[in-house]
Amino acid sequence: MKKTKTAEPQSLALEEAAVLPRNFRRLGIEQRRAALQRAFDFEGSENEATYGNPMLLELADVMVESAFGVVGVPLGLVKGFLIDGEEVDIPLAVEEPSVIAAANYSGQIIKAGGGFRTWSTEPVMKAQIFIENVAPEREELIRKHEAEIKAELKPILASLESRGGGYRGLSVTRLSLTQIVRVALLIDVRDAMGANILNTAAERVRTLLESVTRGSVLMSILTNQAEERRSGARFSLPVKRLAHVRTNGFSAEETARRIVMASKVAQEDSARAVTHNKGIMNGISSLALATGNDTRAIEAGAHAWAGRDGKYRGLSNYWLRGEILEGGLELPLAFASVGGAVGYHPASRASLKILGRPTAHRLGRIAAALGLAQNFAALLALVTGGIQQGHMKLHAQRVAYRAGARGKEIGRVSREMSEQRSYGLQAAQGILSRERGSTE
Ligand code: MEV
Repeated sequence: MKKTKTAEPQSLALEEAAVLPRNFRRLGIEQRRAALQRAFDFEGSENEATYGNPMLLELADVMVESAFGVVGVPLGLVKGFLIDGEEVDIPLAVEEPSVIAAANYSGQIIKAGGGFRTWSTEPVMKAQIFIENVAPEREELIRKHEAEIKAELKPILASLESRGGGYRGLSVTRLSLTQIVRVALLIDVRDAMGANILNTAAERVRTLLESVTRGSVLMSILTNQAEERRSGARFSLPVKRLAHVRTNGFSAEETARRIVMASKVAQEDSARAVTHNKGIMNGISSLALATGNDTRAIEAGAHAWAGRDGKYRGLSNYWLRGEILEGGLELPLAFASVGGAVGYHPASRASLKILGRPTAHRLGRIAAALGLAQNFAALLALVTGGIQQGHMKLHAQRVAYRAGARGKEIGRVSREMSEQRSYGLQAAQGILSRERGSTE
């Protein structure tokens, strides 16, 4: 086997890194930008694309360390989902061209069949405290001190309690390999995501737990598993409605059968399940980003749920009930409608206004409906004409843009690319120069 040469890239990386001042982190944001500009010679569009505007730059600087800019992800709208009898428009922040188009398409099909029915469990989250060196008789004592633990938490949970949330119990488990004792605090966080309150609560009871157990706390942190805080969605669609959608020649009955079979494959084959679930998260993560929610936490919880019985499976299911195709999805969705970036980022506030200022409950349910719609669109395409037809049309627009097309030219060039089934940059450039020649 050929040996990989690593020396050159490493020394290059060191050289490049040396160009930026050591105190980069301590510079003001404009100074950081100037340092980067000197080091990497950004082109005009690279500069503009990372600058945003002064307000966004200031915001970035308070949001993260060493901020030097913002990245503009498109915000687009999914129109008129029918969820529990109410219409809702859903803003999504996403770079992938097909995501919004797919949700708009399947959302309308599902609407014609009566829309989504959704549900949510209570917004209960869990904080974990891991304690070393606890003797078995001391482990027993933890539950006996629950009243003291509650009392210790009272001041920090007071505001949550006034809003109907607060302490919901604890569990004590000894982990079999490490012998560590895990105490889990259950807290209803209402409309918040809950990370701050849970972590504060977990750290607050440290001294008390150490004195009760005579052990020593290794760490305390919430779990993003969030399995108590689930949302779900379902829809029912008369199979005959599939006669009116693009099925590439398959009958409505055969299309429905194939969708059910595709969902069974995602239950059986984990590699397929990962992609199946990625499609579901296309919608859910984009909604999380648009509303300032923690996309990584939501993703982690969803994928853990998909593997909860030891095998990673598809999150959604489809089945036939007589002449009706039904689809359903349930997963942990720790969406917040207040607190953190959700509350202070103006883009997220704008998104929440579009959504009708939902509670966290409602937002979780909208997310579940959206994930299911996204999945239905993907399966419908996959088991009929394939997804590339639609994807390539959208891809062509990006290539046309890269080739220099602007405004109405983008539509004209990409349409011709699709007709010719040529999606390369050269094809786009050729079409563009002909197009410009003929309009001069
Ligand atoms: C692409 O972003 C998502 C899909 O791959 C999902 C799926 O395969 O179910 C189309």
